[in-house]
Amino acid sequence: MGTNNSFFASVLLSILLLHLCLQHHVVEGAERQALEIIIGGGGGSSSPPAAPPEYQECPPPPPPPCPPPPPPPPPPPPPPPPPPPPPPPPPPPPPPPKPKPRPSPPRLNARLTAARRVIQRFKLLIKDDPKGIKNSWKKNKSPCTYKGFTCAKVPVFKEQTVAGVDFNGYGFAGYEKTKLPLNDFMEKLDDLVFFHANSNNFTGTVPDGLTKLQYFYEFDLSNNKLSGEFPSFILNAANLTFLDLRFNNFIGAVRPEVFGLDVDVLFLNNNQFAQQLPDALGSTPAHYLTFANNQFHGPIPRTIGNLSKTLYEVLFLNNSLSGCLPMEIGYLNQATLFDVSTNKLTGPIPQSFACLAKMEILNLANNQFYGTVPELVCKLPNLETLTLANNYFTQVGPECRKLIKKGSLDVKQNCILGLPNQRSKSECTWFFSKRRSCPDERSMIYIPCQNRYYSIPGSNKQSPEHQGRAPAPLTYGTLKPHGL
Ligand SMILES: *[C@@H]1O[C@H](CO)[C@@H](O)[C@H](O)[C@H]1NC(C)=O
Ligand SMILES: *[C@@H]1O[C@H](CO)[C@@H](O)[C@H](O)[C@H]1NC(C)=O
Ligand SMILES: *[C@@H]1O[C@H](CO)[C@@H](O)[C@H](O)[C@H]1NC(C)=O
Ligand SMILES: *[C@@H]1O[C@H](CO)[C@@H](O)[C@H](O)[C@H]1NC(C)=O
Repeated sequence: MGTNNSFFASVLLSILLLHLCLQHHVVEGAERQALEIIIGGGGGSSSPPAAPPEYQECPPPPPPPCPPPPPPPPPPPPPPPPPPPPPPPPPPPPPPPKPKPRPSPPRLNARLTAARRVIQRFKLLIKDDPKGIKNSWKKNKSPCTYKGFTCAKVPVFKEQTVAGVDFNGYGFAGYEKTKLPLNDFMEKLDDLVFFHANSNNFTGTVPDGLTKLQYFYEFDLSNNKLSGEFPSFILNAANLTFLDLRFNNFIGAVRPEVFGLDVDVLFLNNNQFAQQLPDALGSTPAHYLTFANNQFHGPIPRTIGNLSKTLYEVLFLNNSLSGCLPMEIGYLNQATLFDVSTNKLTGPIPQSFACLAKMEILNLANNQFYGTVPELVCKLPNLETLTLANNYFTQVGPECRKLIKKGSLDVKQNCILGLPNQRSKSECTWFFSKRRSCPDERSMIYIPCQNRYYSIPGSNKQSPEHQGRAPAPLTYGTLKPHGL
């Protein structure tokens, strides 16, 4: 049990490292490149996933939290007991160090034998295998030698089993007739702790079979042709850290319980999910959330404000969200990216946005927002781009005009008198001929981080320095099927 112990230990350690790295990187606010690589482990390269360095991308001079070598020291190998060198025996007999292995290959345990059977059956369904992966899936070999599979010892059974599948970027596709289902494959490998199948042509629905989920920690089905409802078995994976379903054809509702999972990353973009966002959204510990390019509708729940300590980036773009932005968004003081562009949102920008101290990219384009662009938002210290095009804003003050001049504020196609590229007078008149209001008008002028209500500005002299350019944010990368 000693030598090849601890895949599980290292899995656990990896989870821990991932957490630490995520935290570390985000606390530092820099090195997001490294984070992308870390997350790419579950998400997505289309090229062969660079083998294990996923979790070693922590900053080089190892600060305490990121020790490099995963395997925790197994009990120090006991000093070789069998051959205590007897002083000088004349001729060393021909070395019979190990009992001679029988020439026949070692017998597989029952779990491996069963897994091999499942994999061999699955192999017959693969027509396209551009990387020649399945050539390594030899009938008479252990599945632990197969490319794309990882074996480990399951603590409860104390024997080797197939514990991981990593088909990322393999481009597997099935035959016209049979297609390439996950059914009869994924759920039959019941000891899995991760399943990565980014960028293949899997079709059909996600089977509901996996039952031993307490160690299951990464699930990546992105960029396939899967359909049907949200895969609900995953809700039982209490230790899931990474869930990526983007670029498929999932329909219906995302189960609200998913926001109770202990994930760092939740990528749901580019599907056909259609529902009102549940209040449970406010319970997710995820740092990165992507709802983009679905059909979510209704308002953004006020509970989003509960994510103030954890949420770094969120993409709501290109859905059918409506209503006014809740004041509570202003609590997201760790967030660097907030994109609600191309929805049916309306109302003014809540003054609470003045509290988005770390915000770098704020995109509200292509909605029906109106009113004055808050000067306090234009003064946010880390703001790199503020995109407000295609709305019905009517005024911008001096701070905002500075941003326009710099090119970091886009107010094309609004109703701002005196600026170029605005909507026609009749469009603006038509829009404002209807009475418009938000449910809780007073909350729209509340500034939580200053615990006051906004009032007409006195002259405010400070002009905060803009801090250095930040690297491109992570979640926009999810909008391409092939990775981050
Ligand atoms: C996978 O699906 C895509 C999109 O339908 C298709 O263009 C491609 O040919 C498929 N790949 C294979 C190998 O069948
Ligand atoms: C997984 O979650 C369960 C709770 O459901 C917990 O008891 C267990 O320790 C966790 N296991 C790991 C490996 O984190
Ligand atoms: C917006 O989402 C719809 C589906 O909801 C999709 O068809 C369309 O391509 C998306 N637009 C962009 C620019 O991605
Ligand atoms: C979550 O948000 C709601 C609405 O803002 C609030 O009433 C509730 O107290 C919050 N819950 C927690 C745990 O912060």
